[in-house]
Amino acid sequence: MKRYSLMAGAAFCLAVTGMAIWTAAADPVDETLEIDGVPMTTRAPAPEGHPFDEVLSGWLFREAETRATQEDTFENPGMIAVEEGAEIWNTVEGSAGKSCASCHDDAAVSMKDVGAHYPKWDADSGKPLNVELRIDKCRVENMGAEAYKFDQPEQKALTAFIKHQSLGTPVELDLSEGDMQTWWDRGKETYYTRTGQLNMACATCHEGAMGHYIRADHLSQGQVNGFPTYRFNTGGLVSLHNRFRGCIRDTRAEFPAAFSDELMALEVYVTWRGTGLSVETPAVRQ
Ligand code: HEC
Ligand code: HEC
Repeated sequence: MKRYSLMAGAAFCLAVTGMAIWTAAADPVDETLEIDGVPMTTRAPAPEGHPFDEVLSGWLFREAETRATQEDTFENPGMIAVEEGAEIWNTVEGSAGKSCASCHDDAAVSMKDVGAHYPKWDADSGKPLNVELRIDKCRVENMGAEAYKFDQPEQKALTAFIKHQSLGTPVELDLSEGDMQTWWDRGKETYYTRTGQLNMACATCHEGAMGHYIRADHLSQGQVNGFPTYRFNTGGLVSLHNRFRGCIRDTRAEFPAAFSDELMALEVYVTWRGTGLSVETPAVRQ
């Protein structure tokens, strides 16, 4: 793991003067995570071309109580949404009179490990789809139902339910399909582009200042392997594009729409940055 010298920290401090927000760096915890007896890979060797040597799950940066809540599925409040997702899976909706289960049967079998490989190239639309948009595709084309509105509770619950079927499975994208590489390139550009009144990029915080504290938050690598995540401060699930928008808003920049090409490209790139980490959905955050 790269460590950050005091000098690098000082430079970062100057960069965010006005926010007066960060304090000294601290290492992520040296602990292992098991959920329901399934070991999670929370540290993995970074893929080639990655700025870090090791990719680290956000779990390693959270406080003891938050980590413990995620460890126990009976304690994890995000599991309620996963159960709601299971109900939606079996509910008939739309003009075709079908539920998800009508075609996909038992999600524990048909959706096993599927979420670990999203976003995935979709030849029909010539774009990558994340799990949310893949659900919408089935609703519209296979059920005669409407696409969900962004962040509708059903969308978050069903996405969490599908991702949870990959619990423990390492994240890995297929960048060889279609134009995935172009979307990766575009996402990378966004990741390193400084914007907003604070003139910050994703990399300013999640790469340059990783390990430092911003207010009470221990800055992680900004990995996506736990999404949708349960957050205590809002008392519900937070979708990935909502989190992206929140981070961009914090730099006081204009933030793009959820599921816009810009945020989809960012999802492709940031997901790749977590290659090898286990899916932890629903992860627990403060
Ligand atoms: C009428 C049948 C039908 C219904 C109903 C249906 N789907 Fe699908 N679904 C499909 C087909 C066909 C595919 C494409 C299979 C493939 O690409 O391997 C698919 C693909 C998917 C995939 C991608 C799987 C992968 O391996 O990438 C997901 C996720 C999915 N469906 C979720 C759902 C959800 C959630 C619902 C309910 C809201 C649903 N589907 C309803 C037929 C259906
Ligand atoms: C001003 C600093 C800052 C910037 C810039 C920033 N973030 Fe964040 N981000 C945070 C903080 C603070 C958190 C909460 C603590 C943590 O998980 O690191 C966070 C959390 C996240 C998380 C959730 C991680 C988890 O494990 O739950 C993701 C994903 C994320 N950021 C992605 C991004 C992306 C993508 C960008 C660029 C569009 C970005 N962030 C820009 C400060 C920032």
